[in-house]
Amino acid sequence: MKKQVTVSAPGKLMLLGEHAVVYNRPCIVTAVGQRLSVTLEIISEKRLELEAEDVGVTGYSKSLTDLGLGDISKGAKFVEMAVKNFNEKYKINSGIRIKTKSEFSSQFGFGSSSASTVCVIKGLAVIFDIKLSNKDIFNLAYQTVLDIQGKGSGFDVAAAIYGGTLYFVTGGKVIEPIEIKELPLVVGYTGIKADTVTLIQAVAEKASRHPDLIDSIYMHIGKMVEATKVAFMAKTLPVVGELMNFDQGMLEALGVGSAKLSAMIYAARDAGAWGAKLSGAGIGDCMIALTPTNKVVDVEEAITRSGGQVIKVQTNVEGVRVEK
Ligand code: PMV
Repeated sequence: MKKQVTVSAPGKLMLLGEHAVVYNRPCIVTAVGQRLSVTLEIISEKRLELEAEDVGVTGYSKSLTDLGLGDISKGAKFVEMAVKNFNEKYKINSGIRIKTKSEFSSQFGFGSSSASTVCVIKGLAVIFDIKLSNKDIFNLAYQTVLDIQGKGSGFDVAAAIYGGTLYFVTGGKVIEPIEIKELPLVVGYTGIKADTVTLIQAVAEKASRHPDLIDSIYMHIGKMVEATKVAFMAKTLPVVGELMNFDQGMLEALGVGSAKLSAMIYAARDAGAWGAKLSGAGIGDCMIALTPTNKVVDVEEAITRSGGQVIKVQTNVEGVRVEK
C-alpha cells in the first residue's frame, strides 16, 4: 500500500455524435492535451478532505459515513461520490486527503468532472493496491456520473481513461480506438457556459413532441459517425470535415445551436476549415474546426474576429496515468 499517489487524466472534445450518443448511437471523441491531476494521500481520521481550488473548494472535510449525504457543493460532488462508490465496492474504510489541479478551466466543457472522477478511482485503486482494468474503472466512474447527473453517455469518462481518439457507443457498449496520426483541430471557446443536463432535458422534451422526427435525426447522426470512422481510416480529412458540417446541421435541428456558435463556425469555414461544428452539449462551450495546416492561422484569426477565444490543444493524447 502506498501512502500517496498523483494521477492525471486528459480533457476531451466531442468530434461527432453528441446528443444521439445518449440514445444508443455511436460518437467519436478525442482526448486533449490539457490534463487534470489528483493527488491522494491516506490520513488517519476516517474522513474525506478535499482541496479543489480551481473550482472554489477549499478546506472541505466530511466523515466517510456522511459521503453523498446533505448539501454537497458543486465542485466537490464528483470527487465525493467517486470516493463513496469506491468505498462501498472495495471497502477501503480509510480516510483520504485529495487535492485536484487542472490545466484547463472547468468552464470550457473539456470534461473536468469526468476527468476528476476517473483520477480519484484510478488513484484509490493504486493506493490500496486493487487491480482494476480500464473497463472496471469505466464502470465505476460512469456509475458515479449517472448518480449525480441522471443522464449521460459516458463518452467523457472513456476519453479520460483510454485517451486517443475513440469510437464510443452509449454506456461503453463499444469503446474502440481509432488509429489516426494527426487531427488538426482549431478550438474556439464561446465564453458561454453550457449546462449539459439542461440541454439533454431540452432535447428530450422536443423528442416527446416529435418522437419520430428526433429519432430519425439520431439515426442520421449515427450514420455520419460511421462514415467519419471510415473517412478517418482512409485518412480523408476533407471528408471528415464535410461530415462535421452535416452533423452541425442535425444539431441545429435539435435546437442546441446558438448565434455565437454559428458566427464562429461560419467564420472558420469561410477562412478555409474543412469543417466546423459545435462540440458537446451546445449553445455555449466550444466549437471545433478541422483545418488544413496552411489555413490554421487564418481560421484562428477568423474565430477571434467573430468573438471567440482560441484555445490551443493537442489532440489524441494519452489517457489516465500515474505520475512519478
Ligand atoms: O457538454 P459536454 O461537453 O459534456 O457534452 C455533452 C454531450 C452529450 O451527448 C449531450 C451528453 C453525453 O453524455 O453524451
